[in-house]
Amino acid sequence: MSVDLEGRTTDSSWRRQVLEVQLSPSEAVRRYSMLAPAYEIWARLMESRPRRRVLELANALDGESILEVATGTGAQLVSLAARNPSGRTTGVELADGMLAQTRRRLRTAALDSVEVVRADALALPFEDESFDLVVNSYMLDLLPSDDIPRALAEFMRVLRPGARLVLSNMTKGQARRQSVWDWLYGHGINLTANCRGVLAAPVLSELGFEQITREYMTQLSFPTEIVTARRPAAPSST
Ligand SMILES: C[S@@+](CC[C@H](N)C(=O)[O-])C[C@H]1O[C@@H](n2cnc3c(N)ncnc32)[C@H](O)[C@@H]1O
Repeated sequence: MSVDLEGRTTDSSWRRQVLEVQLSPSEAVRRYSMLAPAYEIWARLMESRPRRRVLELANALDGESILEVATGTGAQLVSLAARNPSGRTTGVELADGMLAQTRRRLRTAALDSVEVVRADALALPFEDESFDLVVNSYMLDLLPSDDIPRALAEFMRVLRPGARLVLSNMTKGQARRQSVWDWLYGHGINLTANCRGVLAAPVLSELGFEQITREYMTQLSFPTEIVTARRPAAPSST
């Protein structure tokens, strides 16, 4: 990524492959708030396998500081917190309806120590270098393209040196029937609540993340990428 004198990012090849979103960020968040009571139906149909894989790759260890950004209904946050009973697990979400679902799910699971904050992924209310693991699922795919590197830079900021990031996103379909979602979105038929296929790995690389991996999987033809990366470790003092 290159940055111009005003601090704006300039075009790079992933931008040419990724459609621009149709809804403003505030309208998208308003829709997710409304969709919150029914969102798990969609998630179980389209995203249950990717969610399991995210948890495997995240490999949350007890005692860690773990952040999930955009918790949605809280299903993944509950799984992360259950693996981290003596650590610190924190969730961030912007939509009030989703926040209410997350809090309800944590109460039901008796995970009262989990902190949940209403905040924007682009301005996380946490100190630099404060987490061992950041998890973020199906959020980058509904942000305007310019906001994708901003969100990832914010994740980099709060990760400790050497700490890990696990993302799942709607991505570009690799087969024709998996590309139909983007085709429909590009033709103004928005069945995905503003999500379109994105490619996070090149953005992570531009930002200086290391050890980047990407897996592609589909569920009912819905294409997901699961991307892992690490913030570079601090340079040794020798
Ligand atoms: C498609 S849902 C995914 C929810 C959850 N991560 C999951 O996988 O089930 C996207 C979520 O991102 C949240 N979101 C969108 N923009 C956000 C932002 N800038 N900061 C925090 N959350 C955001 C929405 O409110 C919504 O809950």
